[in-house]
Amino acid sequence: MQLRQGEMSLMRQLALQLAGIALDDSKGYLIESRLGAIARRIGCGNFNELYFRVRYGNDKALVDEIVAAITTHETTFFRDGGPFDALQWKLLPEVLDARERLGQPRRLRIWSAACSTGQEPYSIGMVLHETLGSLAGWDVQIVGSDIARPTLEAAQGGVYAPHEMARSARPALMAKYFEPVPGGHRVVDAVRKLVTFRQLNLLEPLPALGQFDVVFLRNVLIYFEAEARRSLVRRVAGTLLPHGWLVVGAAENLLDAGPEFVPETHCRATVYQPNRRTPVCS
Ligand SMILES: C[S@@+](CC[C@H](N)C(=O)[O-])C[C@H]1O[C@@H](n2cnc3c(N)ncnc32)[C@H](O)[C@@H]1O
Repeated sequence: MQLRQGEMSLMRQLALQLAGIALDDSKGYLIESRLGAIARRIGCGNFNELYFRVRYGNDKALVDEIVAAITTHETTFFRDGGPFDALQWKLLPEVLDARERLGQPRRLRIWSAACSTGQEPYSIGMVLHETLGSLAGWDVQIVGSDIARPTLEAAQGGVYAPHEMARSARPALMAKYFEPVPGGHRVVDAVRKLVTFRQLNLLEPLPALGQFDVVFLRNVLIYFEAEARRSLVRRVAGTLLPHGWLVVGAAENLLDAGPEFVPETHCRATVYQPNRRTPVCS
């Protein structure tokens, strides 16, 4: 199905309204191929009709399908390496010291805020096991959230095809924390049980998630417009405990988020500990 005059701008509006995704004109092919297939299947003759069906048809499953089609879910286990080293060697030791001072030495809460198909929160779970041993007696919660329902369903299943396993740069950990099942490998229960998943649109008011020691907000800011990015970073920073850390993607930074976000580099990863001396506005 081809975009007609004016329909690209309508689809841009739809992506912004549903997920805050800023599509530029170069994404016309993506609209025509991915959304065109959905439009044809549900009997829409053009993108204009699709827009009104999605916006006013009160069809949650269709909205979920459109959101999944316009978002990019690229991810791998231990993506970019550095953030997971920084977690192990810098962030966890400091967080555990801070927890000790709070009188909660065996508690940890980590949020993977755009977790796609689950590789990021499960990688975090593997790092925790590597660092802290069996985790017996620990209260550890990793929350994985994403806007796209199908990716969350895949994440919850925790089963990965051979090509996804092969993309990990840490084969020894993959061998240790996965077991073979028909069609691929499944994350072992000891890691799976640490992670809970929930559907969440980062551009809407955040639900009560509690406070976190570390938030991974990686490779999602790049899709948003500047004001949405700034607002999101401040709201996410509000979920951090006073000693908490915020980790963003390799191609992202918080330069425009305000003076309270001073970057630090550890293990080749850029991480932030919002500066509590500067008030964080909402
Ligand atoms: C490129 S993946 C990043 C996955 C992982 N964080 C990583 O770095 O490998 C981006 C994810 O952001 C999600 N996403 C996009 N817009 C979102 C929104 N408004 N709220 C929540 N998640 C969103 C997409 O569904 C996608 O799974």
